[in-house]
Amino acid sequence: MCGIVAYVGRKIAQPLLVEGLKRLEYRGYDSAGVAVIDSAGNMHIRRAVGRISVLENTIQNGQALPESFIGMAHTRWATHGAPTECNAHPHLDNSGRIALVHNGIIENYAALKKFLSGKGHQFSSQTDTEVLAVLIGDLYDEMKVQNHIPPGVSPLQRAVQAALHQVEGTYGIAVICKEEPDTLVVARKGSPLIIGVGKDEYVVASDASAIVEHTTQVIYLNDNEMAILKPDAFRTCTIDDIAISPVVSQLENKLEEYELGDYPHYMLKEIFEQPTAISNTLRGRAEQKDGRIVLGGVSKYTRELIRAHRIILTGQGTAWHAGLVGDYLMEDLAKIVTECTYASEFRYRNPIVEEGTVVVAISQSGETADTLAALREAKERGALALGVINAVGSTIARETDAGIYLHAGPEIGVASTKAFTCQIVTLAMLALYIGRRRFMSQAQCQEVIDGLCAIPDQMTKVLEQSDHIRTIVEQFCERENWLFLGRGYHYPVALEGALKLKEISYIHAEGMPAAEMKHGPIALINDGMPVVFIATQGSQYDKVISNIEEVRARGGKIIAVATEGDANIHRYSEHVIEVPDAMECLQPLLTVVPLQLIAYHAALARGCNVDKPRNLAKSVTVE
Ligand code: G6P
Repeated sequence: MCGIVAYVGRKIAQPLLVEGLKRLEYRGYDSAGVAVIDSAGNMHIRRAVGRISVLENTIQNGQALPESFIGMAHTRWATHGAPTECNAHPHLDNSGRIALVHNGIIENYAALKKFLSGKGHQFSSQTDTEVLAVLIGDLYDEMKVQNHIPPGVSPLQRAVQAALHQVEGTYGIAVICKEEPDTLVVARKGSPLIIGVGKDEYVVASDASAIVEHTTQVIYLNDNEMAILKPDAFRTCTIDDIAISPVVSQLENKLEEYELGDYPHYMLKEIFEQPTAISNTLRGRAEQKDGRIVLGGVSKYTRELIRAHRIILTGQGTAWHAGLVGDYLMEDLAKIVTECTYASEFRYRNPIVEEGTVVVAISQSGETADTLAALREAKERGALALGVINAVGSTIARETDAGIYLHAGPEIGVASTKAFTCQIVTLAMLALYIGRRRFMSQAQCQEVIDGLCAIPDQMTKVLEQSDHIRTIVEQFCERENWLFLGRGYHYPVALEGALKLKEISYIHAEGMPAAEMKHGPIALINDGMPVVFIATQGSQYDKVISNIEEVRARGGKIIAVATEGDANIHRYSEHVIEVPDAMECLQPLLTVVPLQLIAYHAALARGCNVDKPRNLAKSVTVE
């Protein structure tokens, strides 16, 4: 949700900024802009509606930017104000000296705008961000007039600090001022910001993907912290100006992991990466030889986990669906009362958190505002807070008491795929870790570990059916309504299948428990409606067959995801996609793959932008 990249150093800023924006484009893509200060101290801004390529064309065709060594850029996901050029970032203060890019929401922007308008300031956009730019400019003037700035201190730094004391809401910001043409000021509260530390240069970005090409040394800013960066010096402090010793960390992922390689889309790449990603999630944790699970990240809290009375799994979107599978796994394997709740709902419902409650925040990005807010609420109420997170060093990962990283590698496609399966694997390992220390026998633990370790090869067999799935989808992709149905462990998979289809092909789809269909949604079924059943062999197979019959009787066309070798299912289905047999509790890891591929092929057939679907953002950092 909005991407920021900023640079100060010895290299020419503009190409570096635009390349950085391309890496961050998955965070938002309705408009983009760049600001630089040239060596004569002039500010230059270019903004364009649409993708980064539009901005790039604007710069290349007639609106070239001069050579500059400091600048910043932004790709937007609109919150306040339509995606127009005047609402695109960077925004300027009234004098045009100060430029600002911002990710987050200034909640009291209306009151600030009124106050600043009363002082004669003008606004040219509908954004909350411009209000902050104008406020910084106003305070900058005030400070210069009062001449209160001690020698050696940047007036820009002071103005930003003063402004941030007045704002309510969330921000990751970068600010430059043409009167201080070698100073980049950045700050964060609630929105991510990472400082890449190079030799005589700093690259600041919303995430590591825009930094890794330049340096692997990074500083993660915490909330209410800021940095004042010059090519040859930097200082980190709180917004109250208390100095902080920066901790420099090493980035985990390599540049190649962010590249598309030979794939046409990130989503397809990430679907096909799942066997490797899952092997990485399991590595060093699921020890098949001894039938044991080793989870170093949570071992400090083993006692609390064994004694837990209740586990609350929380997240949003696909992460919430993984949590629903985790709910079944925890109760099945660890025998602890578990619930999975939307983070956004948990946070505001005055939740009961008794002693012995463990909250597990599930998030690919580790930056989702709703999930972060739920985590903080749970901690405030005394819960042990764990994280199941992909992005190393992300805000949620740093705020949890302990956690387990997915090690799935960067996920760039807006529709989450490999994070989902790695989240389930991680939750399965957590359930085993706890279960084995409670009631689970060694034999059962070994069986599930063996099952988990077999998943990567089994998944490869499912992926081989991609062309078969494409031919099925092409027959139905003009239909505007689909249903996805499953029971037990496959109910969350049905939800995830419907979400994937909605997200990237804009087809209306609903996922639900197969049994629930007859309580209302059955009225939707008309002649030829595609209905995807997850109908693998397991405890509820016969019941699912009955539900299939109910749909067929009303003209629905059945696409069944079924167990390899199940001859019976062909009698009930127009199309069958086979998955290898697996323990029931691990089947979601296989059955979700055809649904990811259905969504991918449907989006392609409908000419949709697979990696950047309309209106969405990969990382939603506003509540
Ligand atoms: C957004 C994305 C979804 C994702 C959800 C949670 O809505 O579009 O794909 O599942 O956020 O993201 P997280 O990073 O917390 O897993």
